[in-house]
Amino acid sequence: MAGSTLRFSLLLAAAFAGRATALWPWPQYIQTSELRYTIFPQSFQFQYHLSSAAQVGCSVLDEAFQRYRDLLFGSVAFRFPHPIEKRHTSEKNSLVVLVVTPGCDQFPSLGSVENYTLTINDEQSLLLSETVWGALRGLETFSQLIWRSPEGTFYVNKTDIEDFPRFPHRGLLLDTSRHYLPLASILDTLDVMAYNKFNVFHWHLVDDSSFPYESFTFPELTKKGSYNPATHIYTAQDVKEVIEYARLRGIRVLAEFDTPGHTLSWGPGVPGLLTPCYSGSHPSGTFGPVNPALNNTYEFMSTFFLEISTVFPDFYLHLGGDEVDFTCWKSNPDIQAFMKKKGFGDDFKKLESFYIQTLLDIVSAYGKGYVVWQEVFDNKVKVALSRRPW
Ligand SMILES: *[C@@H]1O[C@H](CO)[C@@H](O)[C@H](O)[C@H]1NC(C)=O
Ligand SMILES: *[C@@H]1O[C@H](CO)[C@@H](O)[C@H](O)[C@H]1NC(C)=O
Ligand SMILES: *[C@@H]1O[C@H](CO)[C@@H](O)[C@H](O)[C@H]1NC(C)=O
Repeated sequence: MAGSTLRFSLLLAAAFAGRATALWPWPQYIQTSELRYTIFPQSFQFQYHLSSAAQVGCSVLDEAFQRYRDLLFGSVAFRFPHPIEKRHTSEKNSLVVLVVTPGCDQFPSLGSVENYTLTINDEQSLLLSETVWGALRGLETFSQLIWRSPEGTFYVNKTDIEDFPRFPHRGLLLDTSRHYLPLASILDTLDVMAYNKFNVFHWHLVDDSSFPYESFTFPELTKKGSYNPATHIYTAQDVKEVIEYARLRGIRVLAEFDTPGHTLSWGPGVPGLLTPCYSGSHPSGTFGPVNPALNNTYEFMSTFFLEISTVFPDFYLHLGGDEVDFTCWKSNPDIQAFMKKKGFGDDFKKLESFYIQTLLDIVSAYGKGYVVWQEVFDNKVKVALSRRPW
């Protein structure tokens, strides 16, 4: 405890010592100096090293170079006269990027190596990384190292950084069901994630409140389950745009389609999917979780998750499995009969596990790994340790 407080104080002290050390997150190893180099926005360039595996045409880095140029100098680039006369050794007019392994067109994954080293001294200013994803993290760090004097001149200090993430999964969840978020807000969030070196956008797409994901296999889901099928949905094009925008920032999109609970919005579009709740011996007109007693349910899930498996390129899908309310299942005579037939007794956790297990098997057969909420483990469902060969 004392140790971590001390570490925190040292970090704060370091952060206030000079503007150039205001880095977030803090690199694993960093050495800075008082020696500063001037940067002239007009002449400064991001460049590929001659022996880099990534070269001009690498979408991930070409676009990142442009982005960071705009972020750093966007509003000032043309207000300064061209500094041809001022060239000298204390100027840095490029950052040279060397990526070891090719892979500009791939998607980041749980196993992506994000290590990088950043060296800015008299001899060089070099960003070295194993992968383009590491280069993205290094570019972010570089952008945070640049500071401006009160006169408006840009500087970067002599710096040595070796960095790698402490955690391979650094996620942020957005719930676009309870509250619909316009596409632009999602893209803004991805930008902010990149500034903070987050690498997983956990997209909780649908829930009880609304079903904004436009399914091409089951368009009725969105037509009848979204807040507004004209304005409050994500089209196939929107989803593609999110996935590509995220990829360009080294962010995985982990899509969550939570079942068997949290599914009220699925009901209107897929008659028979949800369990009719009973009041005494009659249906009450309300619905509960997905009906786990019907074969149709699993046929629907097979078709639906086949679509989802192809739309979302990440190895993992999030299948939810949390907060299943047993009240409705308990009230329904067909469910009671199914429990009896299966020998589940009064243990509705067994019924839930039966559903989840069947769903996990369906999704595994599509070559996907899955993520589920804690309850699934607590209820002793057999979850495979699925791992993609990295
Ligand atoms: C960067 O250099 C400036 C001036 O040379 C100095 O005031 C500042 O403390 C330095 N920052 C770091 C982090 O060393
Ligand atoms: C990345 O950094 C970690 C931690 O130092 C190290 O174990 C791993 O070997 C590094 N990977 C590469 C490709 O440099
Ligand atoms: C559901 O499928 C199983 C296995 O194929 C079969 O034994 C069962 O009779 C089917 N149930 C219904 C209600 O069709």
